[in-house]
This record gives sequence, C-alpha cells and structure tokens, in this order.
Amino acid sequence: MPPRWTNAAALPSAARVLLLLPPLLALASAGLSGYFGTKSRYEEVNPHLMEDPLSLGPSAAASRLPAACAPLQLRAVLRHGTRYPTTGQIRRLGQLHARLLRRPAADCPASAGLASWQMWYEESLDGRLAPQGRRDMEHLARRLAARFPALFAARRRLSLASSSKHRCLQSGAAFRRGLGPSLSLGGDEVEVEVNDSLMRFFDHCAKFVALVEENEAAMCQVNAFKEGPEMKKVLEKVASALCLPVEELNADLVQVAFLTCSYELAIKNVTSPWCLLFTEEDAKVLEYLNDLKQYWKRGYGYDINSRSSCILFQDIFQQLDKAVEESKSSKPISSPLIVQVGHAETLQPLLALMGFFKDEEPLRANNYVRQMHRKFRSGRIVPYAANLVFVLYHCDQVKTSKEEYQVQMLLNEKMLVFHHSNETISTYMDLKDYYKDILENCHFKEECELPKANITSVDEL
Ligand SMILES: *[C@@H]1O[C@H](CO)[C@@H](O)[C@H](O)[C@H]1NC(C)=O
Ligand SMILES: *[C@@H]1O[C@H](CO)[C@@H](O)[C@H](O)[C@H]1NC(C)=O
Ligand SMILES: *[C@@H]1O[C@H](CO)[C@@H](O)[C@H](O)[C@H]1NC(C)=O
Ligand SMILES: *[C@@H]1O[C@H](CO)[C@@H](O)[C@H](O)[C@H]1NC(C)=O
Repeated sequence: MPPRWTNAAALPSAARVLLLLPPLLALASAGLSGYFGTKSRYEEVNPHLMEDPLSLGPSAAASRLPAACAPLQLRAVLRHGTRYPTTGQIRRLGQLHARLLRRPAADCPASAGLASWQMWYEESLDGRLAPQGRRDMEHLARRLAARFPALFAARRRLSLASSSKHRCLQSGAAFRRGLGPSLSLGGDEVEVEVNDSLMRFFDHCAKFVALVEENEAAMCQVNAFKEGPEMKKVLEKVASALCLPVEELNADLVQVAFLTCSYELAIKNVTSPWCLLFTEEDAKVLEYLNDLKQYWKRGYGYDINSRSSCILFQDIFQQLDKAVEESKSSKPISSPLIVQVGHAETLQPLLALMGFFKDEEPLRANNYVRQMHRKFRSGRIVPYAANLVFVLYHCDQVKTSKEEYQVQMLLNEKMLVFHHSNETISTYMDLKDYYKDILENCHFKEECELPKANITSVDEL
C-alpha cells in the first residue's frame, strides 16, 4: 500500500475522500463519457480529435472525392457547439446540491466529495454557448475547409443561417471566424441570417406542439421507464452512495446529477465528483432514458416528429436542384456554401425523415435489454456540434460512365451509407427518386395542421 493511503486513513473521512479523488475520477471519466446522449462531446464520435482538433482522421483517406468529380455545392446543417445547462437544469442542480449540503454525512464519502464541490453554474448561463462550443465550431469550420478546398476557396459566397437562439447565432459566428481572413469569403454575404421556420420548424408545427411537445401522455414510455426496475436500481445505488433515503431521490434528480457529470467534462474538461455516483451499468440505463425521450419526442416515436422537418428537407433539395440547373446552363453556382445552425431537435427529425438509425423494434420502457445494440443512440448521432453535410458533385461522364450529378452525405464527418444502394455515393437522380414521396407529398402546412377531430389518445397519433 502506498504510504499516502496509510496517512490518509488517519484523516477525517471527507479529507480522505479528497485525497482519493484523482485516481478514482480518472477511472470514472473513462467509463461514462460514451453514454452522455445529447450531452456528448463531439470527440466521442471522432476520438482522433482529442489528439489534434484539426486532423481529418483515419476516415479521411477513405472518403476522398469521387474520381473525376468536382464539388458544386455543400450544404451543412449543424447543431450548436458545447453549451451550458439551461436555467431549469441549473435550478434543479442547485436544489440537489443544497439538499446534500444540509445533511453532512460523516461516513458518506460521495456526499462529502459533493459537499466540497463548488456550485458555479448561474441561472443566467441559460443554455448559452460555452467557450468550448466556440472552439468546436471554429475547428469544424477549419476541417471542412481543409476537406473541400475548392468550395471554401477565396471569394466563394457563404450563406449562413441560424436559429434565433443565442447559442446558435454564436455558433454561426464562430464557424465563420474559423474560416479565417485568409479565405477572404466575398465581402457581400450577409451576416448570420435568422431563420426559425427552417431551423426551429418544431416550434411552428401546431400538430407537433399540441400532440407531442405539450402532451404528457405522448411521453408515456419515458415516464414508465423512470418508474421501471432498471431506474429503480440506479436510484437505490445513488441514494445509498449519498446516504439519503431513496424516497428523497427521483429519476429527475438522478438525471441532473448525471448531466452535471457530462457538463463538467464537456465544458471544463474535468471529471467532477458527480461522476463517482455512477457505474458504467448505471450510465447505460441513463443513456437509454435520454434516448427514449429523443425517440418519442424527436425520432421515430411519432410520425409528426419527422414529418415536421420536411420543410427543411425540401429546402435542401430545392437548393440542390438550383445548383444542378445553374451547372447545366454553365452559370456560376449562386449558393456554393450553405451553412445552417440549429439544434439536436433540428437534426434528429430530419435524419428520421430520411430513414437513418431506425431499429426494427421501437424503443420502449420494457425492452431495455433487447435494445442494448440499438442503432438509435443520440450520443452517436447528435453530440454537440453534430453536422449533416450534403455534397453535390459534377462528374465527368466519360470517365465515370455514371450520371453527371452525384451526391454524398456525411454525418459528423463520416460518410453515410445510402439505404437505396448501400453505397456512400448516389446519383442525384436516384436519390431524388428514393425520396420522391417526401419531396412530392410532404407539405409542412398540411402535415402540421391540427386535426379537427379531438385526439386525446396517443394511439391515434
Ligand atoms: C427561411 O428560409 C426559407 C427557405 O429558404 C425562406 O423561404 C424564408 O423566406 C426564410 N425566412 C426568413 C425569415 O429569412
Ligand atoms: C483534457 O484533459 C485531458 C486529461 O487531463 C488532457 O489530456 C487533455 O489535453 C485536455 N484537453 C483539452 C482540450 O484541454
Ligand atoms: C444492403 O445491405 C444489407 C446487408 O448487407 C442487405 O440486407 C440489403 O438488402 C442491402 N440493400 C440494398 C438496397 O442493396
Ligand atoms: C377534447 O375532449 C376533451 C375531453 O373529452 C375535452 O375536455 C376538451 O375540451 C375537448 N377539446 C376540444 C377542442 O374540443
């Protein structure tokens, strides 16, 4: 036994815990960070960035431009970078922390460690972009520019749009700063343009708001899981670690503790004592709780979740059409670079509309074990700074013997495999054909109209 431990044994328990924290914390951070769901760092999906935030990584070679093709247009839909907790989360954390401070449990190591933790979050931080979030965006911009030098070349026009939320506007500005003065993007482009009808379509979709967002019954699977056996076990373990009676805790408070562990890592790059409350098994349960909510509120749970995004989907294809038309008539491409900053709630419905990450069985409160290897893991799909990129190419027909216009899609800088072909590139015609029904028959206004019949049961959704 190292001498430090022997000495520590003579100290009061709180001080002893503090001495033991560093080695324990290092372990804790390694185990949990893959389960933070929508609060995951972007580095979780691209670990090579921990070493070098500007590296294009091991997949860069495999995703080189298709032969004999030149990129015409790049459309990127981004989630904002790392952010602070929202006011509601900060308030709940303050309550939980105050509760722990009120009962200093002498023989409760976890409680003591948390009591000495400084509650530094202020309500005014309310979901704002953290300094790390600015770096996320600047680095992403630089990597995209390095990957597509022809598109990000001097004097190309960049159209930059954003949700009206402060963190998104700030992310857009950081992305632009990341491109730097050397790129000298044409001086005529507007500043970040706010467009909530595209970036926050969910707010403008009456049917979604009434039947999902504001309908408690729509979250019945989430609420059932909170009361279920897996969560009960986590609650009991956390209560025992904190020396609190289990009745004083509930799923929401435990989730706040877990969120705090994720925020401290993403914002400050530290493993906080909150992480010590959880094992990897607990983290998997809490990740599932987060994924269940995403699934029923933003994903495949209800059709309206994804249908409400068809306004954005159609806008993407309108811009692609326009670029193809301009190319065909040998005109310069008027919008070679379109970057739009929104939310996890913007990207997840769009990906569901396109059929990505769909499991055969729905995520439910009672199939946690069967969903262990699910595709729908929001931490892998929409971490901070998540990005979905459409690249339109003009290809030399003689060399490729394929159609002139081709498309690639990248999610978080990795190529997506198209469902209709199992390939990472598709002719633009095949892609449009595959999504013909959505392009022709999904109309935001009609989809989002509240049904006249009085729907009260989620079975009718
Ligand atoms: C948002 O974008 C859509 C589609 O490009 C456009 O029709 C609309 O005018 C824009 N709204 C604002 C406020 O710029
Ligand atoms: C984050 O912390 C780890 C471990 O302490 C360190 O190796 C890494 O360089 C830090 N990363 C940043 C971006 O500061
Ligand atoms: C794609 O690959 C999967 C698994 O290899 C196969 O089941 C599926 O039928 C393929 N789809 C197409 C369109 O080729
Ligand atoms: C819908 O039905 C519920 C209960 O049946 C009733 O309370 C509510 O007022 C009705 N809403 C409308 C818009 O008719």
